[in-house]
Amino acid sequence: MIIAPSLLAANHARFGKAVERAGRAGADWLHLDIMDGHFVPNISFGPEVVRAVRPLTKLFFDVHLMCSRPEILLEPFAGAGADEIIIHAELGDQVAPLIWKIKALNKKVGLAINPPTAIVEAQPYLDQIDLLLVMTVNPGFGGQEFIHETLPKIQQADAWRHERKLSYRISVDGGINFQTAAECARAGADTFVSGTTLFGARNLRAAVKKMRQIVNAHDPALADLKV
Ligand code: DX5
Ligand code: ZN
Repeated sequence: MIIAPSLLAANHARFGKAVERAGRAGADWLHLDIMDGHFVPNISFGPEVVRAVRPLTKLFFDVHLMCSRPEILLEPFAGAGADEIIIHAELGDQVAPLIWKIKALNKKVGLAINPPTAIVEAQPYLDQIDLLLVMTVNPGFGGQEFIHETLPKIQQADAWRHERKLSYRISVDGGINFQTAAECARAGADTFVSGTTLFGARNLRAAVKKMRQIVNAHDPALADLKV
């Protein structure tokens, strides 16, 4: 199980400190949300921010491109230190060439699907990707409410993974707190992106430890543990 704090929820004036804090807190990955103000109605940060924080940690950089023209951003983010680059299935016939471009940059490939997008849209690519990201909120902002209607998509992705003996990770992103993390783990998720609940916690190390306990135990009852 992978716990990935989302930097979008950290203090934007202290990104360096937040990245170091996530590493010390026992997180596995750092999730980096890249928003272009077009694919989503918000703008976050660019490759120079990723390049600046890269030397501060050994954490795996999970770069989530919510961008309409990711093809112009693959090399800059790969060069800045991304370990995995996630593109969106909603880009349609651009997806296949983008997957090959990311592989050619020797980076892991993630494919994200938004809540309104049917899970079948990801099916043609399942044997080519390292991670399937089931968005559990409509992308663009942190702090949103978890959309429970996305749970069956996680179950379907997990069923395909077993049926086809594939090894892609199933990640969830958006509104992931201690309760919804447990529900997603029970549905088959193994990678948990969380912004507000982790970077918003007084004690990040305790919050990461608690989320790991919960997803390992698949037990919502642990959600009442105080941090
Ligand atoms: C939303 C982003 C998420 C977001 C998660 O578009 O992709 O990664 O930062 O933040 P929380 O956990 O606060 O919903
Ligand atoms: Zn994200």
